Amino acid sequence: MVSYKELVFVNSRELFKKAIEGKYAIPAFNFNNMEQMQAIIQACVETRSPVILQVSSGARKYANQTLLRYMAQGACEYAKELGCNIPIVLHLDHGNSFELCKSCVDYGFSSVMIDGSALPYEENVELAKKVVDYAHQYDVTVEGELGVLAGIEDEVSHETHSYTRPEEVEDFVKKTGVDSLAISIGTSHGAYKFRPEQCTRNAEGRLVPPPLRFDILKEVEKRIPGFPIVLHGSSSVPQQYVDIINKFGGKLEAAVGIPEEQLRKAAESAVCKINIDSDGRLAMTAAIREVFAEKPAEFDPRKYLGPARDELKKLYMHKVVNVLGSANKA
Ligand code: G3H
Ligand code: 13P
Ligand code: ZN
Repeated sequence: MVSYKELVFVNSRELFKKAIEGKYAIPAFNFNNMEQMQAIIQACVETRSPVILQVSSGARKYANQTLLRYMAQGACEYAKELGCNIPIVLHLDHGNSFELCKSCVDYGFSSVMIDGSALPYEENVELAKKVVDYAHQYDVTVEGELGVLAGIEDEVSHETHSYTRPEEVEDFVKKTGVDSLAISIGTSHGAYKFRPEQCTRNAEGRLVPPPLRFDILKEVEKRIPGFPIVLHGSSSVPQQYVDIINKFGGKLEAAVGIPEEQLRKAAESAVCKINIDSDGRLAMTAAIREVFAEKPAEFDPRKYLGPARDELKKLYMHKVVNVLGSANKA
């Protein structure tokens, strides 16, 4: 057992409090490898933003849990070396069992998500409470979820949304003791967030998705005022990356995300954590495809992973400064 406090992470409690008061959101970026981690830290140090480093169970399988933990620990040292000791949360993304959450708490995570959103309500409550009871003994913060997001992740996939029912949130928060709540208001996971028939088209023929359900968010805020809200599935699927990928041999059709103005608006509310993974995947893939197409003789991985990392850093800086509003809040 190792406490996150020895590893110099922080839990999310204070960060969320300040984010709600200051009307911004903390970026929660997923990482699976060194280049993603470097880009996240470089971007957040340069913009002086607090950050949540997210590890999914898929990431744990891909990169090995021990390596990821030491990388995150290294990230804190790296940030200091770059000149700014930004607050860093090490968070389990979409924990699907008590055992997984416990293992992360025991392994030095400062925050865990227990995602019982696909379970019947009472089972979701029971599971979340069990995780909270364990995690709080070690001052680890817990995120729960109500409402199901559509989309595909490694471990879970749902075809349709079921929006959060505002009438459940107060009871859920009270019974479980969670520190933050992920809600479903129309975001979804992955690069294909909406089917073309759900969208309209703008003047350039681009797909425009249906707006987020700010009415549900408002209703939730009314019932649990000042309580930290989390938005998953918040990639915007930048069309310039989709175009580059398609230009250089990729095949992404009808990829569409959440418009950044809507996320900016959400960040000004009680939404204080915004999860972004797919946009990073697109940025890296676009940069790598471009190098492969333009420099076919190149075979040194640093020559394509380096540009991918640079593009990722640019993307993260943009999110922090222009979308989440967390720059200079470290
Ligand atoms: O919400 C899911 C995250 O994007 C993680 O995805 O399960 O493929 O690692 P993953
Ligand atoms: P995106 O797929 O929209 O990046 O969402 C990521 C996420 O919610 C991670 O938990
Ligand atoms: Zn998610």
